[in-house]
Parts: sequence; C-alpha cells; structure tokens
Amino acid sequence: MLTDSYSVNSKGHLCLGGADTVDLANQFGTPLYVFDEKDIRNNCKAFKEAFDEYYDGNALVLYASKAFSCKEMYRLVNSEGLGTDVVSGGELYTALAAGFPAEKIYFHGNNKTPNEIAYALDSKIGRIVVDNLFELETIDCLAKDKGIKAKVLFRIKPGIDAHTHDFIKTGQIDCKFGFALENTEAYEAVKKVTTLENVELAGIHCHIGSQIFETEPFVLAAEVMLNFADKIRKDFGITLGEINLGGGYGIKYVNSDKPVSKNESIKLLCSAVKKACAEYDYPLPKLLIEPGRSIVGASTLTLYKIGCVKTIKDVRTYVAVDGGMADNPRYALYGAEYDAIVANKADKDKDFEATIAGKCCESGDLIGENIKIQIPEVNDTLAVLATGAYNYSMSSNYNRIPRPAAVMVNDGKARLIINRETYEDIIKNDI
Ligand SMILES: Cc1ncc(COP(=O)(O)O)c(C=O)c1O
Repeated sequence: MLTDSYSVNSKGHLCLGGADTVDLANQFGTPLYVFDEKDIRNNCKAFKEAFDEYYDGNALVLYASKAFSCKEMYRLVNSEGLGTDVVSGGELYTALAAGFPAEKIYFHGNNKTPNEIAYALDSKIGRIVVDNLFELETIDCLAKDKGIKAKVLFRIKPGIDAHTHDFIKTGQIDCKFGFALENTEAYEAVKKVTTLENVELAGIHCHIGSQIFETEPFVLAAEVMLNFADKIRKDFGITLGEINLGGGYGIKYVNSDKPVSKNESIKLLCSAVKKACAEYDYPLPKLLIEPGRSIVGASTLTLYKIGCVKTIKDVRTYVAVDGGMADNPRYALYGAEYDAIVANKADKDKDFEATIAGKCCESGDLIGENIKIQIPEVNDTLAVLATGAYNYSMSSNYNRIPRPAAVMVNDGKARLIINRETYEDIIKNDI
C-alpha cells in the first residue's frame, strides 16, 4: 500500500483512515473523493515541527490551496496553525468565507486582475506575491487610492531546473511566472519598487516546480535566494524580513516514487538558509514554504463504479468508470501516474492489466494505462489512489457531468465536506 492510511478489512475491502471504501461508495455514491483527515493533520504537524526543530519556529507553513480548495480544508489547516496561499479571487473568497485569518493569506498569480488586487487589499491579506511590473504598478495605484502601503513579496525565477515534468517546472527562465534573475529583470524590479511610495518589499519568493524528489534543487534555490537578498541589502539598503521558498515536495503516487521525509527536507532547507545567512552575515529571515500536494495529496482516493469492461483482442482492455478527466484531468494533462485497486476485491492479487477510461467524449479521457488491478467486473468499485491534490481543484463540468462529492474520514467515520453537484447546479447560470 502507498501509505499507512490504506488497509484491507476482513471482508477484503479497501479501507482509508479505517473507513470501508465499498460502504462509502454505497452511502455517498460515486464518483467520490475521500480524504483521510488524520493524515492531512499529521502532514501539517510534520512541517511545523520540523521548523520548530531546525529553525526555532521563525517560520510559517502556507498550505498551497490550489491543490484542494474548499471551506473545510481552509478550516482544517487553520486549526493546525498554518497560513495559506491563494491564487485567485475565488480561492481568496473561499478562504475568507471559511473564516481564515486574512493576515495569514498570501496571494499569488501571474495575471491578477485589478479587481482581484483591490479585493486582496480591501481584505487586508498578509502579502501579495508580485509577478510582474504591470501588477506592481497596479498595486501601487490601488494602494494609493486606498491610503495604504501594500506589503509584497517578489516572485523570483532562481534559474533552477528541477527534475520533474515540463508542465510543472517553474524555476527556469523560460516560464510564465515571476521575475528572472539571469537577465537582471528581478534586480530592475527591486530598483523600481524603491521608487514607489505605496508598496513595501517585505521579501522574495520562489517556487521551482512540483512533485520533486531530489533535495538538491531546494537547497540550491535557498542559496540563490539568499545571495540575491544579500545583493538587495548591499545595493538598495533593504534587509528583507521574509524568504518564501515555495512548495513542490513530491508524494507517492506509485510504488516507485520515493519521497524524502518532511523532516529531512526541512532540515536541509533550514541548514542551507542558516549557512548562507552566516556567510553573508545576514539576519535570519522569517522562512516560509508552500506545500500543496504533500499536505493533501497522499492518503486520499477517488471511488468509481465500473460500468463496462471492453477487451480488444491483442490490443488492451478498457475498464470504463463513471468519472474520468472531468474529475481527474492529470493523466490527460501531463501523463500523471496512478495506482488503482478494485476496492471490493482488495485482498486479491493485482494481476490484470487495465487501461482505465472515463466517460467523457474524448479518446484521451483516461485515468491511466497499463495499471495492474484485480480482475475487474461490472459494478465493482474502483479506487484510484492519491487523488487528493489537483483533482477536485482541476475538475470541470465537461460533457455537463456534475462534480463529485467529497468526504473526510477520521477513525472510520465519514463526513460530507462537499456536496455532489446536481443537474440543477449544471444549468444554474444558463439564461
Ligand atoms: C507558487 C506555488 N506555490 C506552491 C505550489 C504547490 O506545489 P506542490 O503542490 O507541488 O507542493 C505551487 C504549485 O503549483 C505554486 O505554483
């Protein structure tokens, strides 16, 4: 099993967080997203405790809520003492509606609209992470109108090539996010901010990519960022109080994935920051990170009903489920790999090779190819594992398919956290 949250009970059924997934499918219907609350809380604690151990606690873990945004998730991470990052007015609205403390919200995005920026300023959120000079000028203008000084971080591309899929690499110069270091763009932006009266540069941010298993790129990024902070201090007399090193910590989707422990990742990160600070005689800044999938991705699953099994002789077997790319577009988008289990036969061997297909009108609507599962039959419940991050948040109503419900399980008990969409929801904006 991928994590300790998954188990098999005496009926041979797959369980998550002690809850029988076949019962969950019967009770709540399918498709159904299932999250293990204990695991999410433990992930939050693991990051926090590592910072207490290696950085004397002068750190803030921001949950990257693009991974899974809903009111209950904001309430949960808030109760664990985390901050959050949002990337749109919609995520900000959801966080505030859940009662998330505004000062612990950081606002990202490479093309924030003036309305979104005004909303963030009016809501008195913690920081806006500035992506480009157009945005910087808009913030200055809007802050002036409102008679406030906006505290911002600059998003920097540190020029680090993380070993992950091209679509989720974000630290290299050819990327739509942020200011590059190599071509002095970042330096010029700092020069510009010193001329603005209504914006204060509180720190710098980088995020080098997602689903990264090596520790070296994170350490390198920390070194590059501290080096730039030191240059800013020398050339502009600004000592930055915050360094935000983003998210990207990899999780186990399939057995061959080997994630580094949170404790080890944070230990190395803190040691790199402390070393660089000692070298430059730089006061230790407040350190921030933005994990998304490593908080909410593992120890989760999506339950489907198998509707047909189509074997094409000498070609392959398609196992079609009652969801697909509308609730999980990650295979279609970048070939993401998943493990799957026939939940009502979880004690049987996985010796059947399946291509799991969705119900959308696209040949590319697959959850995965050549996945080993138990022998599939119509009406079986299929569990696709580790779907907590970037599934619900990337879901759509393609083919006018209502979005699934989501439940949180804890010690065998499940509670609904997102209602299943209805056909009425589907037409509610149609005129
Ligand atoms: C700026 C930023 N921070 C944090 C994250 C979270 O990444 P992950 O879920 O891999 O931890 C992302 C992901 O896209 C991001 O763009």
